[in-house]
Order: sequence, then structure tokens, then C-alpha cells
Amino acid sequence: MPTTTPLAYDPMDVAIDVAPYETWRRMRDEAPVYHHERLGFYALSRYADVSAALRDTATYSSAHGNVLEFLSERELESGMMILTDPPAHTRLRSQVARVFTVRRISALEPEIRRICDELLERWTPGENFDLVQDFGALLPAIVMTSLLGVPDEDREPVRRTIDTMFHVLPDVGMFNDVSGAAMGELERYLDDLLTRRAADPGDDLLSGLVQSELSRRECVEFAMLLATAGTETVGRLLGWATVVLDQHPDQRAALAADPALIPGAVEELLRFEGPSPVQGRWTTRPVTLHGVTIPAGSKVLLLTSSAGRDERKYADPDRFDVRRDIDHHVSFGYGVHFCLGAALARLESRIGLESMLAHHPTWVVDHERSVRAHTSTVRGWEHLFVR
Ligand code: HEM
Repeated sequence: MPTTTPLAYDPMDVAIDVAPYETWRRMRDEAPVYHHERLGFYALSRYADVSAALRDTATYSSAHGNVLEFLSERELESGMMILTDPPAHTRLRSQVARVFTVRRISALEPEIRRICDELLERWTPGENFDLVQDFGALLPAIVMTSLLGVPDEDREPVRRTIDTMFHVLPDVGMFNDVSGAAMGELERYLDDLLTRRAADPGDDLLSGLVQSELSRRECVEFAMLLATAGTETVGRLLGWATVVLDQHPDQRAALAADPALIPGAVEELLRFEGPSPVQGRWTTRPVTLHGVTIPAGSKVLLLTSSAGRDERKYADPDRFDVRRDIDHHVSFGYGVHFCLGAALARLESRIGLESMLAHHPTWVVDHERSVRAHTSTVRGWEHLFVR
């Protein structure tokens, strides 16, 4: 039967955010270059189009913002590499790549395992536990304080400040006075810590940054980018792991029995329920796709989580399968902006899942009490109660 309801996609629509997959499937089939006239944006939803656009930074610019609410004519002139295009991006990324190394990330493994064990020991069988607030959100924020080399005595207050940066106010959203004040506080703290590291460098990431060619402003902005991009996303992924595995108990049992399957399960989770589903861009020139011309100076949303469910790319895409052989997905982005923290995100998710399954091989999600987080950038759970 043909569908008669008009196709409408608004990333801020809570009902769509809760269950977007049918809308995204229709967009891929009926309007692969979707245009929302009132909100003034275009959206690409097929894997092939999204992955090509992510790589084409000359047409799809990040310098005008990457979130629908903030995309505008004006270039942002930000020192945050996620909001720049080559060649400015190339310079920033090559500088930070020298300090954000594989060695530094791998060295965090024992600490990540210790933090997971410590947090999960508070989850007692039969009792309610908020998997996001008491574990998923805490883990990456604590790891971040360690990665940034925050002194022990400051870690808990800094972690709380990072947490407050993600405070969402009803009807106002994620950009509000509370989150703004916390961002200002963290910026001042990091600037001060950078001054201390410049005077007395150690082996930590901030010491490496102050010794690079980056300006002080760029160092602070990079540290802020890590604290924002590297915490909420991981927490949301662990939330999705909890929900999706509860819906697929046979696969959860398979992971508990054979932890070697966990890295593949993390990739399947990223494809199946990507925590960062929408990447905003601004067109620098007209582009024609599937017979539709997107004019220069347009807002474009690249729906990376729709790409993860594209039947043109993945067989039976709505089936969750931890054994699926995934050659590629775009849930960490693609091209020059490919997630800098992907290795850390994979490490935290793998160890997080290993620890969850070792502590509690089964759990039941209390959907009645659990609460979704609705922001325009990240999809997932704010509170997730499990027994
Ligand atoms: C499951 C967790 C994560 C997901 C799903 C995720 C997703 C993404 C995506 C989709 C992008 C590309 C954005 C764009 O093209 O505009 C990105 C970029 C980025 N991510 Fe992640 N991320 C995760 C974890 C992390 C972590 C743990 C860190 C750092 C510790 C991090 C740091 C960054 C940075 C710095 C960029 C910007 C890279 C650039 O512009 O060159 N992310 N991430």
C-alpha cells in the first residue's frame, strides 16, 4: 500500500527523534535530497550520498557551523577544528595528532578498566541502577580528566563541570545559561592549567599541546572540543548498548560467552543506533543530486544514522547482528573530520561492555522510568534504569 502521509522531517521533533527510522527510510526512497522549506535546510540520507558529501569539504563546508540551529551565512572563525575547512583544518589536525597519539590512548586501558569496575560494583543485583548517570556518562568524563592530565584533587569538580555542560533545559535546549556558565568555567580552568603546564611541563596531553605550534586560544579550544565531543557520545553509545542488548538477549548471551565478539558488536551498535546521527554543513557552491539542485549557501544535514540503515549498503539493515561483517560505516564521520577520538571511543565502549557483561550478564531495562535526551546533535538516553 502506498503511504499517503506527507513526508516531513524535523530533527528537533521529539517524536521523530524517538523513532526516526521509518521517516529516514522514506527519505532515502522518496526524497534522497530532502528539502524542508520552512526550516530552510536540505538533508541527504543515503549512505553513498552522505559518505561522498562528508569527503567533499570544498562543497560542504564545516566553517559555518555543524549544528542546524547555528548554521549561518557567517563563517565562524573558530579555532575548533571541527568548525574549520582545509587548509586551516589540516594545520590544526596535524598539530593535535602529535599529542593525541595511539600510545597515549592505549595507555589508558588499565585505568578505564579500573574505573569501570569501581562504578559497576555499585550496581547490586536486583536493585535499580541508572546505567547512564551512574556509569555511561561518568566513565568518559572521568577518563577525560585523566587524558587532560587534570590533577587528582581537581578531577571530581572538573568532572562535575563537564557534566553540567550537557545540562538540557526543557524548551530551551542544550545551549542555555547553565551549560554556558559551565563551559566558561571549564575554559578558564583549562587556560589556567595550560599556564601551569607551560611553566612546568610534564608528560601529559596539555603539556604536549602548549609545546606545539598552536596558539593558547587554539590549545584551549582543542581541549574544550575533546571535553565536549569525547564524553556525551560515549555515554549515549553505552546507553544504546544496554537497550539494544536487552532487546536481543541471545546476542547479549553470545557476547558474555565470547568477549572476542565485543569489538564487532561495538561497530554494529554504532551502525544500528549511532549517537551522533546528524552532521550539519553549509554549501559553498550549487550541487545537483538526484535531479535536485541545492543552491550555494544552503544548510545541509548529512544523516549519518540514516546511512547506517541504508538497504542499498547493508543487507537487512534493521536487523541487529553482532556478527555482521561491516566493511564501513559513517557513524564516526568520514574524510578529514573523521572522529579524532574513534580509537578512544572504541576502547571505552569495548571495556565498558566487557565489564558490564562480566558484572551482570543479564539485565532488564525499566522503560517506564527511563528518560530520553533530546538535543539536535546527539541521540540517546539521559536516564536508563536497569535491574
Ligand atoms: C561513540 C562515541 C563517538 C561518536 C559516535 C563520535 C562521532 C563523531 C563524528 C560523527 C564526528 C564527525 C563530525 C563532523 O563530520 O562534523 C566526530 C568528530 C570528532 N570527534 Fe568524535 N565521536 C565519538 C567519540 C569521541 C571521543 C571519545 C573523542 C575524544 C576524546 C572525540 C573527538 C572528536 C573530535 C576532536 C572530532 C573532530 C575531528 C575533526 O574535525 O577533524 N569523539 N566524532
